[in-house]
Amino acid sequence: MMQSVRRLLIAIGISAVLAGGAQAAGDPDAGKVKFTTCTGCHAIPGYTNAYPNYHVPRLGGQHPDYIVAALNGYQTGERQHPTMHANAFSLSEQDMRDIAAFVAGARASAAPLPIRGDAVAGKAKSGSCAACHGADGNGNIPIYPRLAGQHEDYLRRVLADYQSGMRKNPIMKGMVATLSAQDVADLAAYFASQPNGLTVVKSD
Ligand code: HEC
Ligand code: HEC
Repeated sequence: MMQSVRRLLIAIGISAVLAGGAQAAGDPDAGKVKFTTCTGCHAIPGYTNAYPNYHVPRLGGQHPDYIVAALNGYQTGERQHPTMHANAFSLSEQDMRDIAAFVAGARASAAPLPIRGDAVAGKAKSGSCAACHGADGNGNIPIYPRLAGQHEDYLRRVLADYQSGMRKNPIMKGMVATLSAQDVADLAAYFASQPNGLTVVKSD
């Protein structure tokens, strides 16, 4: 298992480097302006999606490469969410990179989240996540999202979406295949409770 994860990491790392070479860097000042339409949901602490009901994910401090990948996913419909499809629909690749550069550096100060699940149990189950997301969810490999400080209910929802196939990603599909509902709840509690993590976007 560890061997194959390592091989996968190396393969992904190489293609990320190759792809990265051709890309223009994002401009955070331009990104701030382009993010204006997003602040109503992503810059308000504790903002909740009306249906289905879970917190809008925190983006402040997230890795730019992951933000660009997520926006591309919503744009193509590979990642299904009507609201985010509408928001990503008209963005150019440069818009995405500018926005990503802005949100990566726009961390608001954040009070710790109230945690409902069992973070201690989650920590004991998180060993297989560390190689990509970091032991505390603050990993620094750009293509793997940071999880520390992300909303607990969003993390639960996403892990369940990978399990049901609603959200498609071959790596994460394998990672969640054997998790029970309890494991999902414990892991979400653990990563959500880790300090120095994601925040809402600081937009003023
Ligand atoms: C009406 C509220 C709303 C608006 C406006 C909105 N978003 Fe979102 N955003 C959401 C919700 C809800 C999700 C979680 C969707 C899901 O489950 O995949 C999300 C997810 C995301 C994600 C994925 C986060 C992750 O951790 O995977 C990114 C990136 C993102 N939004 C960026 C943007 C950008 C950029 C804009 C503006 C162009 C924007 N959003 C506007 C509600 C909103
Ligand atoms: C081999 C690398 C790898 C391992 C190991 C791994 N992940 Fe992931 N994870 C990824 C990738 C790549 C993505 C982005 C997939 C996508 O775009 O949907 C991701 C996405 C996620 C997301 C979505 C974050 C967001 O903001 O929407 C969560 C939650 C997550 N992983 C949790 C876990 C947990 C919990 C474990 C351990 C049980 C784990 N991952 C193990 C690579 C990995």
